[in-house]
Amino acid sequence: MPRLSAAQQQVQNNFLQQVHDGRLDKSVAEGSGLPNLAYTCPDFYALEQQTVFRDNWVFAGFAHQLARVGDMLPVEVAGQPVVLVMTEDNGILAFHNVCRHRGAKLVTETRNSKKFVCPNHSWSYSLCGKLIARPHFLGGEQHDINKSECHRADLVEIRCVTWHDWVFVNLSGDAGDFATRIEPITRKLEGYDLSDMVFSESLEFEINANWKLPIENFIEPYHVFSCHPWLNDFVGMDEREAPTFDKKVLLCGYQFQNTDPARGGELPWFPNLPAEKQNRGDWFVLFPNFAFEIFPDQVDVFIAWPQAAEKCRETIALYFVGEAATADKYSAARAHVVNNWNDLNHEDIGIIERMQKGRRSEGFDGGVLSPYWDPVQQHYAKLVAESIGAP
Ligand code: FES
Ligand SMILES: [Fe+2]
Repeated sequence: MPRLSAAQQQVQNNFLQQVHDGRLDKSVAEGSGLPNLAYTCPDFYALEQQTVFRDNWVFAGFAHQLARVGDMLPVEVAGQPVVLVMTEDNGILAFHNVCRHRGAKLVTETRNSKKFVCPNHSWSYSLCGKLIARPHFLGGEQHDINKSECHRADLVEIRCVTWHDWVFVNLSGDAGDFATRIEPITRKLEGYDLSDMVFSESLEFEINANWKLPIENFIEPYHVFSCHPWLNDFVGMDEREAPTFDKKVLLCGYQFQNTDPARGGELPWFPNLPAEKQNRGDWFVLFPNFAFEIFPDQVDVFIAWPQAAEKCRETIALYFVGEAATADKYSAARAHVVNNWNDLNHEDIGIIERMQKGRRSEGFDGGVLSPYWDPVQQHYAKLVAESIGAP
């Protein structure tokens, strides 16, 4: 972890004192969630960026945005500029998006190019981050470079993996093995051939709430009977499973009795789906902020992008199954699914913003949790606490 500023150390100490009451270790019925400052304090937000978002595998972009060799996608991870690039032979790579010379940000918008060229003094780098040329480096018209010194001027690479359409990076380099990290998810995904997934479209939302609230809301089905009339008709509370967790993965799911146009009713299904998956939906969170749902006819990815302590952006990316699903004859069916997600998410956003407002109240301090539905909330709070350095 990089050195924390005095303000961050103070907020870390404040936080540790507040969770020192054992709220995260007691039984769920006796314990509680994160204190309010974890959702409202700009210094805590900065601390999270430097820890949670630096030390874990964090979603950075969609592979479909990097389809051609030379496609470059500037993103921000842990508050730092990062660039993803599709290379000729090495798939998608990630680099710190900064020139090694005087630190100009290299790529400022999505583009396609054969190499990186810094506009400041025209140093250039290959798509694999190797320095190519430093014009006039040794004086006017003296372009030569000292090859043995070159490595100092190569772009700084960041650990990066591409899993289906989703690109993850780990800035600190010590988040462990990605495949091991997502094992609880891949086990649940057995039987779905995700290579059949075809990206359809994305929905974007601005939310006046800390990024953790949409994720916490996403994983728990307890609010369904109260907030989502259609979803409650689709699967009632007595048929709903309580969320579970396995290390840095949160899991939930249900069996449904009958399909609906919004869930498996009209669009093509994953081929050769085992019987037990044919009337099933599952959803997951990969800590900290990547989530997705899978049904026989669709995959829906949710990302809560942190923007500020009390602001985030949410992307919902929708995928259907096989090229056949893109046919005109399914356009109404696709629109039905998309509109359904849009409606459901607006039902959630109102509640999420209320929970944010509630975290300004001294009448709330982490909450009284349901021992049946909320163990996942306490676990998620623990993951945050561990990441920011709680012993
Ligand atoms: S800052 Fe990039 S070439 Fe000088
Ligand atoms: Fe919801």
